[in-house]
Amino acid sequence: MGTPRSATAEASPNIALVKYWGNADDELRIPSNGSISMTLGGLSTVTRVTFEPDLGEDLLLIGGHPAHPPALDRVSRHLDLIRERGGVSARARVESNNNFPSGAGIASSASAFAALTLAALAAAGIESDTASLSRLARRGSGSACRSILGGYVEWQAGGTDAASFATQLAVADHWALVDLVAVVSRTPKPIGSTDGHRLAGTSPLQPARVADTPRRLALCRQAILQRDFEALAAVVELDSQMMHAVMMTSSPPLHYWQPSTLAILQAVADWRRAGAGVCATIDAGPNVHCLCAPGEASGIETRLRAVPGLEGVLTCPPGGAAHLLPDRAVSG
Ligand code: PMV
Repeated sequence: MGTPRSATAEASPNIALVKYWGNADDELRIPSNGSISMTLGGLSTVTRVTFEPDLGEDLLLIGGHPAHPPALDRVSRHLDLIRERGGVSARARVESNNNFPSGAGIASSASAFAALTLAALAAAGIESDTASLSRLARRGSGSACRSILGGYVEWQAGGTDAASFATQLAVADHWALVDLVAVVSRTPKPIGSTDGHRLAGTSPLQPARVADTPRRLALCRQAILQRDFEALAAVVELDSQMMHAVMMTSSPPLHYWQPSTLAILQAVADWRRAGAGVCATIDAGPNVHCLCAPGEASGIETRLRAVPGLEGVLTCPPGGAAHLLPDRAVSG
């Protein structure tokens, strides 16, 4: 019987500026197209992994409560990849906590799998460089590969397991954008992204979206590097609309928007036409991420809070990379 070995890590979610939707390989989560994101500061998942030789099966506690079987299964399969790599046979106790309400409609799988990967590798005693860490996090949730890095991040589709990982485009301090997340609904989405990616290929629009992605990536990269908000706004909104057009034309169709989603999109368009530095993007859910140019966030937040039907607004500056914490218990 060995001694338990544990490690604790923290990671933040991210908002995609050019989105990942659809896989070239579902099993390995190799995406059909590259993507770019901003890591979200202020929001984080803290996860402790303890390999315990006495445990009969993996345990997963989220916010102090045992997770539902499908979530435990997904985590166990991810831990198996790490166990294989490190020659570890012990089962693990995984305790995870988000500092944002898990029902807030903010995708937590990116921060969850980034923190889990980092903590599990450390607990297994496996040394890893950033690229390998990002590749492994990708296997748990595609967008998690971007949450390994801070600031502005690009995920090269790569086409193979070895080549598909994220790298940093610019540090968090490079450009003080703010993401105001307009929370339209806290209800969990009916179709999760893992299933959604499998439907992408059923839309006749997906091939055109994928074929045009290198152009949007180049525009987005350049807008970030030159801190050009107008250029960023144009490509971010086009990209989001293209992904939702694919979703809405899949078989079966996926409609993530609610009436307030469209109300906010229209309000943001009006505000920008009137000169405000704000644009909108939506992931696989009804909430609207309102990206604000530096110095504009508090004015936009006041206007957002006046839109009827909103459940709340979260304020996120660019955030840092996933990192290890001094090992400690994770409270629920
Ligand atoms: O990483 P997943 O499987 O949760 O997929 C993320 C999909 C989007 O959030 C809609 C887009 C993206 O690039 O993050």
